Amino acid sequence: MNLDHLPEHWRRTHLCGEFRPNHAGATAIVMGWVARRRDLGSLIFIDLRDRSGIFQVVFNKETNPEAHMRAEELRSEYVIAGEGKIVQRDPATYNSSLPTGEVEMFAGKLCILNDARTPPFPVEDDIATSEDSRLRYRYVDLRRPRMQRNLILRHEINLEIRRFLDELGFLEIETPVLTRSTPEGARDYLVPSRVQQGSFYALPQSPQLFKQILMIAGLDKYFQIVRCFRDEDLRADRQPEFTQVDLEMSFAQPEIIFEVIEPLIEIIFKVAGISIETPFPRLTYQEAMQLYGSDKPDLRLPPLFLVGQLFNEVEMKKLGTDPALPLVAVLVPGCGGLSRKEREEFRTFAGNRDAKVFDDLRHMEKNFPKQVAEIRSITKATPEDLILLVAAPAQPGSHPDQVPPAQPPVKLHDVAVYTAAGALRLHAAQKYADRHNLLRSDVYRFLWVLDFPMFEYDEQDKRYVAMHHPFTSPQEATLEYLETNPAAVRAKAYDLVLNGVEIGGGSIRIHRPDIQRRVFRALGFTEEQARARFGFFLDALEYGTPPHGGIALGLDRTIMILAGENSIRDVIAFPKTARAVDLMCEAPAAVSEEQLKELGLQIKKDLS
Ligand code: AMO
Repeated sequence: MNLDHLPEHWRRTHLCGEFRPNHAGATAIVMGWVARRRDLGSLIFIDLRDRSGIFQVVFNKETNPEAHMRAEELRSEYVIAGEGKIVQRDPATYNSSLPTGEVEMFAGKLCILNDARTPPFPVEDDIATSEDSRLRYRYVDLRRPRMQRNLILRHEINLEIRRFLDELGFLEIETPVLTRSTPEGARDYLVPSRVQQGSFYALPQSPQLFKQILMIAGLDKYFQIVRCFRDEDLRADRQPEFTQVDLEMSFAQPEIIFEVIEPLIEIIFKVAGISIETPFPRLTYQEAMQLYGSDKPDLRLPPLFLVGQLFNEVEMKKLGTDPALPLVAVLVPGCGGLSRKEREEFRTFAGNRDAKVFDDLRHMEKNFPKQVAEIRSITKATPEDLILLVAAPAQPGSHPDQVPPAQPPVKLHDVAVYTAAGALRLHAAQKYADRHNLLRSDVYRFLWVLDFPMFEYDEQDKRYVAMHHPFTSPQEATLEYLETNPAAVRAKAYDLVLNGVEIGGGSIRIHRPDIQRRVFRALGFTEEQARARFGFFLDALEYGTPPHGGIALGLDRTIMILAGENSIRDVIAFPKTARAVDLMCEAPAAVSEEQLKELGLQIKKDLS
């Protein structure tokens, strides 16, 4: 095919989406992609697309035979430039689905700048194409208006974040991408050094230590919109590289952080035209676990209801549940009419979590009429709703409860019942979301979760690990349990949750070297191990560290919810698959022998 050169004096006068009736009479030059071509013989209509929208360009055989003849060659996704007159359309032919639908261009000249292979899927919003194909041909996928909207929204949000934090006196400071491996939590991505063979950089899981060091260095308020890298199992809301809005403040208190974050979130949502209510509600970790069976509860659904108190010990035994453990009612709105088989699936679901489900209150009514009536009243269930009772199966023997003296947390066994009930609550709602307009994507329920335990016990490693990270400050009142009962230590940590998704997490940090050493000890590090990993940071703490704290928001997750998407891949220009593969550029990939040699690396042939 004969392609045209773009005439040097041609300048784009308008973007496609800009045209309105007041442009009628003007001469314009437009450039873009052919979205659609309709050939009516003497008239050819082209829907021309660029980032701003779609505009109709008309080629008339009578008045412009040359341009018309050229337009006959046009196919989807060809790149063209056209010059012509903007005219008001006949009202009978207005296209009300397009903002530009009252005008069109009668093209006098057409340049075909490039042809295109037939796209692997239509450049339209509602397509049933596999995600693999969309990621493989991402350059086509990103032409779809929905994807462009998401990226534009992201750009606008980034601008607003910078403006807002700048006004509050935060400095945007870049921290290294090639840094040192300090694994804790996820696995690190490693980068081999050529100059020091056998040594590795790590890509940062977050700039945690650098931002703390910036506070030690007296920079006072730091922020960064920063890429983080974690080699962990991926899900719809996780990527191996993702973006945080990371910030840190000297002399901070949790309240001060909330006073920054709540208006920041308000502004971010305003960019998308959504107004939200602040301040956000707050729950302690313990309350969240008891009320929702989760430390990131989705507040769009009703809470769990504790109903064990309605049954005496004998009755609990008759039910086949352990009288010492909680009995929890889960209200599933709108699902009263589910079949036996559908409800049976809930039993299997809970069974896989070592919990037992009574799914038919009508059946229980015979033996426990008073209690069933009471449960219906406590949960305010209507006849359209389903109530599931979740319990732990009766177990002989005693329970390894931990009842630390400081602030009795939820007991270990209780947690298992709450989390099973919480998981079931969510599972049922997700499965039958359409029944009762559950989990509406245009409802935004924020929540701060506070007072996390400092440590959780890792059964596999047989040691305590930090629930947030080892630099989180214990609450002063629980410091004394660091050595005697780590499970009783509470952290000055907070998570921000939106619709059941953790969109941010942060804490007040340890600023005293003696406390930092005690925390490392509680985590099972010897002095030498702590020095080997974090020596530079322990040194820095000794040089006048102010109290400080901060938070990081997951930008991709926040925008995902804001844009009404179900996957963070839809708000990231070039994301990776669930197997951490970039299907477009085929990364990761093998490298040459030469490159390996330079790095002093050898690949073992047997990679199994
Ligand atoms: P945290 O590990 O909680 O905290 O991360 C902060 C937020 O980042 C988002 N996030 C992710 N988003 C997409 N893909 C992932 N793989 C992923 N992992 C985390 C979440 C999360 O809430 N340094 C601390 C912050 C601090 O203490 O200031 C940190 O990184 O939305």
